[in-house]
Amino acid sequence: MAFAPYNRPVRAAFVGLGRIYDLNVRGYVGNPDVEVVALVDPDPERRAQRQADWPDAATFPSITELAASGVEVDAVESLLPIPLHVEGVEELLQNGWHVNCQKPMCNDLAGARRMLKAAEANDRILRIMENYLFYQPLHKLKAVAESGEIGDIVGYHMKMVGTGLGGWDVPWSSFEWQMEQMKLGRGIMVFDDGWHKLSTAIWLFGPIREVRAWIGNTVIGDPIFLDAPTMITWEHENGVRGGWDITVAPDMYLRSDYYTNDERWEITGSKGFARVNRCTGRGIQQPVMEVYSAGEMRSYHALDDDWGSSFRDSGRHWLNWLQTGDGPLLWSAEEAVDVLRFALAAYESSAAGGIGVDPRQVT
Ligand SMILES: NC(=O)c1ccc[n+]([C@@H]2O[C@H](COP(=O)([O-])OP(=O)(O)OC[C@H]3O[C@@H](n4cnc5c(N)ncnc54)[C@H](O)[C@@H]3O)[C@@H](O)[C@H]2O)c1
Repeated sequence: MAFAPYNRPVRAAFVGLGRIYDLNVRGYVGNPDVEVVALVDPDPERRAQRQADWPDAATFPSITELAASGVEVDAVESLLPIPLHVEGVEELLQNGWHVNCQKPMCNDLAGARRMLKAAEANDRILRIMENYLFYQPLHKLKAVAESGEIGDIVGYHMKMVGTGLGGWDVPWSSFEWQMEQMKLGRGIMVFDDGWHKLSTAIWLFGPIREVRAWIGNTVIGDPIFLDAPTMITWEHENGVRGGWDITVAPDMYLRSDYYTNDERWEITGSKGFARVNRCTGRGIQQPVMEVYSAGEMRSYHALDDDWGSSFRDSGRHWLNWLQTGDGPLLWSAEEAVDVLRFALAAYESSAAGGIGVDPRQVT
């Protein structure tokens, strides 16, 4: 497509002013690359709450009313519930706006094709944001893996524990659509939060050629159930194998400024290992990143380990990209489809008893 960088502050609208707005807004606050001109949400309380951040922005209850208003918009920060991603993003693109859409892209390949088609037909950029790719400790982990410091990569694993206690408040309305997603087989652990882990796998070691999964189910209380315990393993095209275990610990307290998600990444090399000890929450209180090699452990004490900073940097990257067109989008819509395929292959494998599934063959 013919994208012309703006070379001036981008006029942006936020669409969806719910829980995650609090973090996505960090890329916009105090950023000379952007002017926030509109805020959209059907909930009047959310509009009034977020207007305090942007007193000069116009507010609207719907995308349609923003489009009819004459307010000029270049790009939209789309923070809609997942079930609205396909139709919402189509409408945004059809209005001629570039879109930075929260992950996950959408529930299936048919939806993804519609989103790609709308971007192409309207000659607009669709980015599916992935803040984990901007978390500084994970950047350092990737750099260490690529440096040869721990030798050749022989394997890696990720761990994720959803704990029941601690963290920030999540309104019940945010859980309601997640429960609908769960009923569709797109649960909060594997598909919603899990999208990030699948993204980091592809980002670290490239395309995936085989996935094997065993997706579980934990009833927390009617109507809430979660898609854990789950184990997913895979092999990259370069031969590196990865694994990820997901568990729910309903009575565990986790200190966190955000969601109560205790996470780790550990890459094993032929000479040593590199490990990121935490991300969203403040689980293990030791340096966020450690590297073991040749009998010595090196600890990184000064990396920015605030998960919220990854939203700031992802947002700044997008707004800078619109100004300059420089570098990868992280992710483009096409790259996000690879993440979706990875997730769909896991579902297909689990449904078939854990057989190997090639995500490139998922339909
Ligand atoms: N990157 C991350 O780590 C991360 C974390 C949490 C959520 N998310 C993603 O962010 C998105 C939003 O999640 P959330 O937790 O903020 O949800 P939420 O339910 O808290 O907020 C969604 C908001 O959208 C509004 N809305 C509903 N229909 C709308 C419409 N037609 N037009 C405009 N606004 C509408 C709702 O009123 C609500 O305020 C989801 O895709 C979710 O998966 C990402």
